[in-house]
Amino acid sequence: MKNHSHEPVTIAVVGSGYVGLVASACFAEIGHRVICVDNDEAKVRTLQAGGIPIHEDYLPELLNQHRGGRLEFTTDLRNAAQTAQAIFIAVGTPQSRTGSADLSFVDAVASEIARSIDSYKVIVEKSTVPVYTNEWIRRVIERNGVPKDLFDVASNPEFLREGTAVVDFLHPDRIVVGAATDRASALLKQIYEPLTSGEYYRGDNRIPGPRTESELPPLLLTSTKAAEIIKHASNAFLATKISFINVVANICEAAGADVEEVAKGIGLDSRIGNKFLRAGVGYGGSCFPKDVAAFRNVAELVGVDFGLLHEVEKINEDQIHRFFQKVRSALWTFRGKKIGVLGLAFKGGTDDIRESPAIEIVKKLLSEGCIVSAYDPAAEARTKELIPAGAQMRYVDSPYAAAQDADALLILNDWSEFAELDLAKLHYTLRYPIIIDGRNLYDPTTMTEHGFTYLSVGRPGLSQPVDPISVFHEPRKRDKA
Ligand code: UDX
Repeated sequence: MKNHSHEPVTIAVVGSGYVGLVASACFAEIGHRVICVDNDEAKVRTLQAGGIPIHEDYLPELLNQHRGGRLEFTTDLRNAAQTAQAIFIAVGTPQSRTGSADLSFVDAVASEIARSIDSYKVIVEKSTVPVYTNEWIRRVIERNGVPKDLFDVASNPEFLREGTAVVDFLHPDRIVVGAATDRASALLKQIYEPLTSGEYYRGDNRIPGPRTESELPPLLLTSTKAAEIIKHASNAFLATKISFINVVANICEAAGADVEEVAKGIGLDSRIGNKFLRAGVGYGGSCFPKDVAAFRNVAELVGVDFGLLHEVEKINEDQIHRFFQKVRSALWTFRGKKIGVLGLAFKGGTDDIRESPAIEIVKKLLSEGCIVSAYDPAAEARTKELIPAGAQMRYVDSPYAAAQDADALLILNDWSEFAELDLAKLHYTLRYPIIIDGRNLYDPTTMTEHGFTYLSVGRPGLSQPVDPISVFHEPRKRDKA
C-alpha cells in the first residue's frame, strides 16, 4: 500500500484574517498547496499584490516565499472547494449581543461549500466555535443535498497568539484534532505530519522556535465535541489565571507586598506554572473577552452554572477602573493635564486594538479633558481610525516624544522597547517625573532611585498599605474614612 504520510495535501482555507492567513502561510511552509479564499475582493487583491494586512513576525517572509508558488489567494470559494482535499473554515465568529458567538459566517460558508463539492472532502472548523457547531455544519451540508459519504466535518482548533502566531503555529504545544471517522483523522494527521514527524524541524530554512526533532509536538485525537470544548476551556482558563493574579495583585497592593514576588512563588509550583501570571491592566484582544463570554453562554445553554466566568469578566473590567483611579490619585485633577501614553494595542508585538484596555484608558483620559500624546510601534494607524488625531489627541513617534513635557507617563502595554527606556533621559523629558505602569515593566526600587514617582500594579507605591491591625480593631472608622 502506498504510504501517503509525507505527501502534500491540497488545502483551501476560507478566511484570511489572523487565523486564516497565518494558517495558510504555515501550511504552505510545511509543504502543502494552499488556496486561501476571502470574499473581500480588495483584501484578496492586496494579498495577491504582496501586501500584508497584519503585523505579525515572520509572516512577510513566509508570504513572500510561498505566494505564487504553493500559496494562492482568490475570491472563488467554489473552485477552491472543488480543488482542495481539506477545506478549513477560518472565518470570524464575532460576539453577538447576548454574548454567544455569531456563527452566521460559518453557516454561510458551509452552505456554499455544500453547493460546490462533488467529491470527498474533509471540512475542518478552525474558527473558535461553541460545542455542537461541528454538528450544525454537518447538518447544513446534508440539507444542501450532499450525501453523507462525500464529506466529514472535523475540528482543529488553533491556539496561536497574535504577535507570535507563526512560531505558535509551527512550534505548537499540541495539535488538537477532533474527528469522527478514520478517513478524516488520517487526512489531518497527514497535513500535520511534517511537524509531528520532525521533518520540518530538520530542515535548514525552518522558522526557529521551541520545537526540535527531540521535542516533537503531540497530536491529540479527540471527538469533535471535545476539540471544540478544549479551545473554549483553554482560553477561559488562561483568562481566569490572569484575573486571579490581578486580584492577588490588588491584595498585595493593599497589604504592601510585591505581586511579582508572589507570582514567582506561585508559578514555581509545577502544577500551577509561571505563565499567564503577569498582573496588569487586564486582558484584551480578539479572543479572551469574546471566548469567555461565548463559553459562559455555552454553559448556560446546557444548563450549567459557570458563575466563575462572570467573576473573571467583572475582575477584568474592574482592573481598568482601578488603574484609572491610580492615575487620578497621582494627578489629582485631569482637565488640561498632558499625559504621555506608551502602548495602544491590547498587548505588545501586535497592531491589534480590539478590546484593548489601553484604548479604554485613553478614551477615559480624553473624556476627562486630558491632552494625550500616544506612542505605539505598530497600532497608531488602527487607533487613528477610532480616535482621530486632534487638539486633544496626538500621535508621536517615540516614547520620549510621548513623555515630552507630560504631567505623567502611562505604560499600557508590554512592547519590549518600553522596558528598555533611558531613564535619565525620560526623567529630563517629563514635566513631572511620574510614571504609572500598567504592565510592571520596571523595578520600583530602581525607579525611585532615578527620582520617579512610580506606580505599578500590585506593588508597594505611593498609597500606604492597609494596616491589618487597625482594620481588625476598627473596621467602622476605616469605612467612614
Ligand atoms: C490568546 C491565546 O493565548 C491564544 O492561545 C488564542 O489562540 C487566542 O487568544 P492573544 O489574544 O493573541 O492569544 O493574546 P495573549 O498573549 O494570550 O494575551 C491576551 C491578553 O492577556 C493580552 O491583553 C495580554 O496583555 C494579557 N495578559 C497575558 C496578561 O494581562 N497577563 C498575562 O500574564 C498574560
